[in-house]
Amino acid sequence: MPATVIVGAQWGDEGKGKIVDLLAQHSDIVCRYQGGPNAGHTIVADGETYKFRHMPSGILWGKECVLGAGCVVDPQVFIEELDDLEARGLSTERVRLSTNAHLIMPWHLALDQAGERRLGKLQIGTTRRGIGPAYGDKAARLGIRVQDLFDPKILRQKIEVALAEKNHWLERVYGAAPIDLEDVSARYEGYAQRLRPYIADTSLLVDRALREGRFVLFEGAQGTLLDLDHGTYPFVTSSSPIAGAAATGVGIGPNRIDAVLGVAKAYLTRVGEGPFPTEIDGPDQERVRELGGEYGTVTGRERRCGWLDLVGLRYAARLNGFTSLALTKLDVLSPFPEIPVCVRYRLPDGSETAEFPAHQGDFHHAAPVYEILPGWGEPLDGMDDVALLPEPARRYVEFVERELDVEVSLIGTGAAREHILSQRGLEAIARP
Ligand code: IMP
Repeated sequence: MPATVIVGAQWGDEGKGKIVDLLAQHSDIVCRYQGGPNAGHTIVADGETYKFRHMPSGILWGKECVLGAGCVVDPQVFIEELDDLEARGLSTERVRLSTNAHLIMPWHLALDQAGERRLGKLQIGTTRRGIGPAYGDKAARLGIRVQDLFDPKILRQKIEVALAEKNHWLERVYGAAPIDLEDVSARYEGYAQRLRPYIADTSLLVDRALREGRFVLFEGAQGTLLDLDHGTYPFVTSSSPIAGAAATGVGIGPNRIDAVLGVAKAYLTRVGEGPFPTEIDGPDQERVRELGGEYGTVTGRERRCGWLDLVGLRYAARLNGFTSLALTKLDVLSPFPEIPVCVRYRLPDGSETAEFPAHQGDFHHAAPVYEILPGWGEPLDGMDDVALLPEPARRYVEFVERELDVEVSLIGTGAAREHILSQRGLEAIARP
């Protein structure tokens, strides 16, 4: 049962796409199990930059790529991605989209935008890609699924039923423009033709592959602290990015998963609103942002930057059951003579805890307790072996391992594929 889940250990943007891309070369299938075009994976390969929103990062190796039932799909974005890949000479023949995945409809985008505007200062800071409204309709059993695209009568009927309610909300509640039935029906019928070759029973496909002993990677989008159940609610996404969701999102048994690789940056970022105990106060925040290129792939927003938070990471290790960790972008910390790492939170009652607070009030008011680690004061560029890392950089990594009791199996030292150092070989990680 050679299945590995790759999951974001923080608030997303940990560099998962690059790790998936690296491990995909030793795998047979790469699956997305949740989320939608709110994700933005950037991969630099052979001097070319690729930005994916729906597509599993394994596509660059020509692997079978699956979007499972737990995903929400914006067909326009997905088709643009397919077209772009083909225009760049990459085959999309092995892409498979679950018939059960839900569609992001134009009213989901309109309602996400209008809802955020209305919340004003209380807004979540979503990517405004329709994610919350699409998952909301799915839970309310009002969603439209990929398979509905292929029955024009059903499709039109579902759009008509949905619009009767959604236009009411758009016009009367938000004062926004209504959506036209004919226009949406025609557009989505058109998408059906383009998407037909990619549709599959992806649960069956992945289960069979696992039974045949093929190697499957499950690629999480967003990150643990954005999880709908366990994240920093309500400042979360509307799906479950944690490792257990790989089983439900694709449709396989949880006992089929062998390994869970967490991906964390050597520091921390967050986009959107919500509490962030280790957010840096002062010019070092801007410095980290510039050095790390911390601007959103999907929205271009500045990411908020902070020091590594081991309380949050310990929580992520618990929720996901990491078998090992990839620590990315260590190079960004190179210029800092001293590097604070948060080891505990001080709570409003004066007590200190190493565990993530279960109550939001405690988390909102938690103050970080830092241990200051020495920096290494030299760039890490071109280092292609863990043994070559400066002593303080190695100690930084070992400190994380000790605190979390999780092995750091991969270390990121730059943007390119070759700037990931492996402690025990990529193949051993991809093929547990
Ligand atoms: P939504 O997923 O667009 O509804 O946004 C909800 C929250 O999740 C916001 O704070 C977003 O900034 C955040 N978010 C969603 N997708 C990502 C991602 O891929 N990386 C980082 N943050 C994300």
